[in-house]
Amino acid sequence: MVIRGCFLVLILFATFSCFSLKLCFGQDRITFSTPIKDSETLLCNNGIFRFGFFTPLNSTTRLRYVGIWYDKVQVQTVVWVANKDTPINDTSGVISISDKGNLVVTNGLNRLVWSTNVAVTVAPNATWVQLMDTGNLRLQDNGEILWESFKHPYNSFLPVMNFGTNNRTGENLNLTSWKSNTDPSTGNYTACISHSPFPQIMILKSNVPIWRSGPWNGQIFIGLPDSISLLFLDGFNVSNDNKGTFLISYATDSFMHHFNLDPDGNLYMRSWNTSTRAWMVDAIIPSTTCDAYNICGPFASCSLQEVPPCKCVRGYVPRNITEWNRGIFTSECVRRVPLKCNASTGGGGGGKGDGFFKMQKMKVPANVEKSIANEKDCPKQCINNCSCTAYAYDRGIGCMLWSGSLVDMQSLLGSGIDLYIRVSHSEFKTHGKRTVMITASVLGVVFIAAVCVLLACRTFKKRPEKDRSAELLFQRMEELTSGNESASKQVKLKDLPLFEFEVLATSTDNFSLRNKLGQGGFGPVYKGILPEGQEIAVKRLSRASGQGLEELLNEVVVISKLQHRNLVKLLGCCIEGEERLLVYEYMPKKSLDAYLFDTLRQSILDWKARFNIIEGICRGLLYLHRDSRLKIIHRDLKASNILLDENLNPKISDFGLARVFQVNEDEANTRRVVGTYGYMSPEYAMEGFFSEKSDVFSLGVIFLEIISGKKNSHKEDNNLNLLAYAWKLWNDGQAASLADPTVFDECFEKEITKCVQIGLLCVQEFASDRPNVSTVIWMLTTENTNLPVPKQPAFIVRRRVSEAECSDQSSQKVSINDVSLTAITGR
Ligand SMILES: *[C@@H]1O[C@H](CO)[C@@H](O)[C@H](O)[C@H]1NC(C)=O
Ligand SMILES: *[C@@H]1O[C@H](CO)[C@@H](O)[C@H](O)[C@H]1NC(C)=O
Ligand SMILES: *[C@@H]1O[C@H](CO)[C@@H](O)[C@H](O)[C@H]1NC(C)=O
Ligand SMILES: *[C@@H]1O[C@H](CO)[C@@H](O)[C@H](O)[C@H]1NC(C)=O
Ligand SMILES: *[C@@H]1O[C@H](CO)[C@@H](O)[C@H](O)[C@H]1NC(C)=O
Ligand SMILES: *[C@@H]1O[C@H](CO)[C@@H](O)[C@H](O)[C@H]1NC(C)=O
Ligand SMILES: *[C@@H]1O[C@H](CO)[C@@H](O)[C@H](O)[C@H]1NC(C)=O
Ligand SMILES: *[C@@H]1O[C@H](CO)[C@@H](O)[C@H](O)[C@H]1NC(C)=O
Ligand SMILES: *[C@@H]1O[C@H](CO)[C@@H](O)[C@H](O)[C@H]1NC(C)=O
Ligand SMILES: *[C@@H]1O[C@H](CO)[C@@H](O)[C@H](O)[C@H]1NC(C)=O
Ligand SMILES: *[C@@H]1O[C@H](CO)[C@@H](O)[C@H](O)[C@H]1NC(C)=O
Repeated sequence: MVIRGCFLVLILFATFSCFSLKLCFGQDRITFSTPIKDSETLLCNNGIFRFGFFTPLNSTTRLRYVGIWYDKVQVQTVVWVANKDTPINDTSGVISISDKGNLVVTNGLNRLVWSTNVAVTVAPNATWVQLMDTGNLRLQDNGEILWESFKHPYNSFLPVMNFGTNNRTGENLNLTSWKSNTDPSTGNYTACISHSPFPQIMILKSNVPIWRSGPWNGQIFIGLPDSISLLFLDGFNVSNDNKGTFLISYATDSFMHHFNLDPDGNLYMRSWNTSTRAWMVDAIIPSTTCDAYNICGPFASCSLQEVPPCKCVRGYVPRNITEWNRGIFTSECVRRVPLKCNASTGGGGGGKGDGFFKMQKMKVPANVEKSIANEKDCPKQCINNCSCTAYAYDRGIGCMLWSGSLVDMQSLLGSGIDLYIRVSHSEFKTHGKRTVMITASVLGVVFIAAVCVLLACRTFKKRPEKDRSAELLFQRMEELTSGNESASKQVKLKDLPLFEFEVLATSTDNFSLRNKLGQGGFGPVYKGILPEGQEIAVKRLSRASGQGLEELLNEVVVISKLQHRNLVKLLGCCIEGEERLLVYEYMPKKSLDAYLFDTLRQSILDWKARFNIIEGICRGLLYLHRDSRLKIIHRDLKASNILLDENLNPKISDFGLARVFQVNEDEANTRRVVGTYGYMSPEYAMEGFFSEKSDVFSLGVIFLEIISGKKNSHKEDNNLNLLAYAWKLWNDGQAASLADPTVFDECFEKEITKCVQIGLLCVQEFASDRPNVSTVIWMLTTENTNLPVPKQPAFIVRRRVSEAECSDQSSQKVSINDVSLTAITGR
């Protein structure tokens, strides 16, 4: 009886203070005087990881290895191995602190099997080994870490650990695979960071690349597909000094998460599912056939969208078309027409030089070379060097050049950047006698036109070269920014073109009504044509914004640096007297609302086009929210602020203007509400609180408008507005019937339903329930059908309360029509 009581107490005691007891196998450290035998293990404080001897699961041998594994996981999951290539063949092994102070593994004959092998200067009994909560095994003395397993990773990359290279310490923290699932000895695969010359992740097989991520641009690896790219936006911490130090780490809520380089050379990302008590695979890299390094051979690009997936790039043809058609891509692509390399450098070749063919959304080729050229000079840099075969420009990386073979190109769906392939000029023309004659005459016309333009430019340039007022302005701006404490705003002012008012007035025919494109949130927009023939859109800002000249210019300079495929490009500005004008690239297809809500043009946007638009808007918004230098909340996102280019790609406009106009205000709460009724989140419309989530609300409304082809203010049967109507259909299980009948197609029913669901998630009443934009993109692109279930949107409450709110805030009138509120409040 007494014995039994003691036993109970002992068990209780053991449960609570296991780690400090040698008796129980749950101790967490080894000292000089307390080695452990094969039957004993260390358990870390939080009980997640265990360290000791193990035999691999399913192994037919009885070899013993020393390693670290997850303790509570039924199926043995080893994350680190010490004596991977020197196993012990029986259970006589011992792990101890040697008389040199190192952690060592010895076999029954007391022969050394493995050692941490560091120089220890203190007495051996002053060092000890501890298994930390993170799964890191540390050899330390009273103040210094002498050795740690996180600095000697094997096949697993765990939370809090670093992966990459450190130039200062010379560390190369890479992953190496096991030989097989049952054999932990060194396998043939490694995953590492290479710097050549930009940091990227590579998986190698016996030092030959089998996969690469594409270069790091400061935010993402530009060759990754979206689903994986987003991993690096959330929770990942990258430190990069561009001098050989590039370390990635990540944090998760629990430690039950790892990346593992499996013996098959695939990098698995796994997390623990507490309800099924099993590992879930969140991602596999490489994930598709196109991801395999150089699968298509040189000068060919891989696309999952096409059959066969490999295609020679423009200007190249398969060397052996028979083999190529049979799917043997090793026969490689060769240049069809030799380059007229010299003609281009000779100048004035009458269009006979080489040109570039643009490929969109590409994983750029391997073996890139770095150039210091800016965006404008990048193509010149390439064309001027006969060995240059392609170039690309990314804002975060700069100018990239390739010479020789172009290998491992892939056409990505959402991510990727524009790649320019050098081709002979003749590639741009179709062949045949008649077309040659036509092109000849066209060339003649072009030539005459060119001469005219040249002459026009001459006369244009004759005016005084340096405008005095503009120069003064530059000077003041330079003073302003050089004295500015915020380094992030240090931008070269000369990069932003200043336009003269007179030029803009002439180009828009004195802002004639005929040239008016529309009314934006901050003033009317006009179409203009510059003397050089370039079409532009000019926004004439409403006067008296209350904004100082310097602040305005400074903001505009920053905004003009934001460049993204899905943002309208700011070409420059003009400030003269009372006039403030912004000059944008001209979008011939006007804005999204002109298609969505127009019965005649609705059908131009089929479902695929609409989906592409939805995706593009999300991407542009993600860029605004995530840009490293300044976070921009749009605050007036709506269909009429989404412009379309000639290929119906969406471009967000008016971004950053809200910022320009509010620069002196409290960023979190503002009395001046910028926005448009019907797109405003309740917390913003009522209390003036805004955040990324208010933009997400507007995004959700746009989702539903794009799907349905109806305005949010439009009343459905039963007097329901669009959000209420969508919510009703969703609850009735008929979400897909929200779709515009002109686009509805059964093939897309699932996709449409998903988009309705995402739209509803975005317009949920409470900002904290709404997803952020990266999650929205993930949801759009994932195959996973388990998306969260939306809660009721914010359509009913807002109505009532916003009316009440408005009456006691005299400065803030909410207008019911579709005009932006700034038009009222801005004055
Ligand atoms: C071990 O064998 C079982 C049954 O054959 C199999 O299901 C499991 O996948 C194997 N585990 C490993 C790590 O090979
Ligand atoms: C185990 O290995 C040792 C040498 O490392 C060898 O002497 C011994 O015979 C082996 N024992 C068995 C059972 O293979
Ligand atoms: C460590 O060993 C030295 C002699 O080697 C001894 O004097 C000292 O007391 C020991 N310290 C501890 C903490 O055991
Ligand atoms: C991996 O790291 C080890 C140790 O720093 C280094 O010897 C090896 O060359 C690295 N491998 C690769 C592929 O970077
Ligand atoms: C690893 O590489 C070696 C030599 O390069 C080769 O003999 C061996 O078969 C490879 N092992 C695997 C599992 O591919
Ligand atoms: C990111 O990593 C750097 C260097 O490893 C570290 O100093 C910093 O604390 C980390 N930041 C976060 C948020 O984890
Ligand atoms: C490490 O830094 C030194 C000095 O900054 C530089 O010369 C060297 O090229 C760097 N190494 C790498 C791999 O970038
Ligand atoms: C865990 O697995 C179950 C069943 O497959 C699934 O429903 C659940 O969503 C998973 N949990 C997480 C956090 O993914
Ligand atoms: C193309 O490849 C096929 C099969 O390998 C071969 O028979 C044929 O001779 C090749 N043709 C040329 C033009 O090289
Ligand atoms: C360019 O011209 C030089 C001589 O002017 C000639 O040697 C060279 O072959 C030419 N290169 C090409 C690609 O035609
Ligand atoms: C042209 O490019 C090659 C390869 O990058 C380089 O070695 C060479 O120096 C370049 N030539 C000139 C004139 O820039």
